[in-house]
Parts: sequence; C-alpha cells; structure tokens
Amino acid sequence: MSLTEFICGLPKIELHLHIEGTLEPELMFALAERNGVALPYATIDELRAAYDFHNLQSFLDLYYQGMNVLKTEQDFFDLAWAYFTRCAQDNLRHVEFFFDPQAHLERGVGLDVQFAGLNRACNEAEKELSITSSIILSFLRDMTEDSALATLEAALPYREHFIGVGLDSAEVGNPPEKFVRVFERARAEGFHAVAHAGEEGPADYIQQALDLLKIERIDHGVRCVEDDALMKRVAEEHIPLTVCPLSNLYLKVIDRMEDHTLPQLLAAGLKVTLNSDDPAYFGGYMNDNFLAVQKAFSLSREQWVTLTRNAIDATFASAARQQALH
Ligand code: HPA
Ligand code: ZN
Repeated sequence: MSLTEFICGLPKIELHLHIEGTLEPELMFALAERNGVALPYATIDELRAAYDFHNLQSFLDLYYQGMNVLKTEQDFFDLAWAYFTRCAQDNLRHVEFFFDPQAHLERGVGLDVQFAGLNRACNEAEKELSITSSIILSFLRDMTEDSALATLEAALPYREHFIGVGLDSAEVGNPPEKFVRVFERARAEGFHAVAHAGEEGPADYIQQALDLLKIERIDHGVRCVEDDALMKRVAEEHIPLTVCPLSNLYLKVIDRMEDHTLPQLLAAGLKVTLNSDDPAYFGGYMNDNFLAVQKAFSLSREQWVTLTRNAIDATFASAARQQALH
C-alpha cells in the first residue's frame, strides 16, 4: 500500500469544522433560488473566483454573505447532510463541528430552526453513514459578550443538542478576556469549552484562552511557537491543537505550506490534530489537508498514526466511542 493510500484510508476525526464553511457554491446557488435570495454573483464560477483571500477578515466577509441563503430547517439539514455525505468519501468516523448561531439569529432565523435541521442531519449520518457527531455552539468574538451571554441563555432549552461552546470570527482586537463571564457560565452548565486562539492573534491569546476561559482544546494555535514557555506548557498539559493547514495557507497565515509550524509543534510533543475548518472555501476536505501536509513535510507512517491517535484522544466522545475509534 502506498503512503498516499495509507493516509487516505486512515480513519478520520474532524474537530475543527464550521458547518457554514461547508456550503459549496452549487448548494449556495440552489438554496438562493429556493429561498428567493439574491446573490451578488451571476454564476458559480464568478463566486469561486471571489474566493481569493488575503487575511481572515476578507474570508469572513464572504463566509457571512454566503450563509444568508440558509433560512429553513430543511436548509440547515441539506447543508449538514451534504457535508456528511462528502465525509464518507474521506473515511470520516467522528465529527465535532461548530455553528454560528448569532449569525443566523441576526438574520431572523431562530435557534429552533438551526438546531432542528443540524440535529436531524447528525442523526441521519449516524444511521446511514456510521459517522458519529456532536455540535459546538460558537460565539462570534467581534460581537459583545452580552450578545454571547444572551445566545447561551436562549440555547439552554436545546442543551441536549450541543456539547460545548467555542469562540470564532475576527480574532485580533477581540481577545479571550472579553468572554470570561460567558465561558464561566457555559462551563457551569456542564458544557465543554474550546476557542480559536493563535490563528492571526498572538500567542498571548492562547495563554488567555487557557487561563481565563479554561478551554480544553485550542483551535488553530499555530502561533504557539512564538512563546517557548507556552509551548512547554501546552505539551506538558496535553492540550490538543486543532490545526487546519489549508485554512492557514488560504488565509495567508503562512505563505507556503512548507512554512507551516506543524513540524515544530510535532517535534515539541504537542497533541496536534489535522482538520479542514471551512473546506468549501479553502480548497479541500480532510484528505486534501492530509495530502497537502504530506507533500510539504513527508511525514512518516508513525507520525500519521500519532496524528490520528491524537485526534481520537482529543474528542469529547464517550470512553466507549473513543475505544471503538482506536
Ligand atoms: N477563523 C475564525 N473564525 C472563523 C473561521 C476561522 O478560520 N472560520 C469560520 N469562522
Ligand atoms: Zn475555524
């Protein structure tokens, strides 16, 4: 078996995925038509041509614009179901994905609609595709903490539908310290806590997310390498990093894949996992990410097994499910 076949055949665990970031142009156009939403692009090719990002914000502008087509329970189901069926191709076994409720609430789409559609797709994926999944409610860090708190309160009646809270959107200028109260509240309610930190923001944001938000996984975290003491701490405390290689390339966090900090993170013994972030926007799903890393760094089979084990151990799945994934 070639190394490529070996990598593609590995059981995959996705821990850093924004479900709205799986909205492929074809589905975006179909939903726009179904819902009578005008898109500022005449064709799918024109839309794809606009996917030329120079930083996180330039992507976020298109990402929020794209999700305007999501209106009904069926839309949220169709979005997640399309993602799950694509997952099966890459041998995905377990997914813990984010969604951005505030972005939909702002457009007048209720939490009942969002949760119902996503949850139905999760149930169907387990039944039809043997892919288990959980949902993480992510707060938009460029909105206020009061908005995040109100969203969490409104989501509590749906608590059986999500397992944790996260923090995403524009990082620089919106440090973790802004969200201490809402994360405290979420943890007190028994939810897991994760946060994007150290993607475009400095290593200090990672430190803050650990100390102030008490997160269990660091989303991205690639700028960890800028602080030796922090690297040592993250390694010693076995805190997983959900790294997204193609995302970092497409958002110009790095200029070339060969510049990625992945080898340094691995060499320092950090619990790195590989993930796809917003695959419809960043040129590929899990296997594409894995193969892009392999092309740049020629990892060994042992390193690929380590990455896979790290991901299984980093899930919030039950011990029994983790056992079954190993
Ligand atoms: N970073 C921050 N926020 C996001 C991202 C990302 O990569 N994708 C969707 N929201
Ligand atoms: Zn992300």
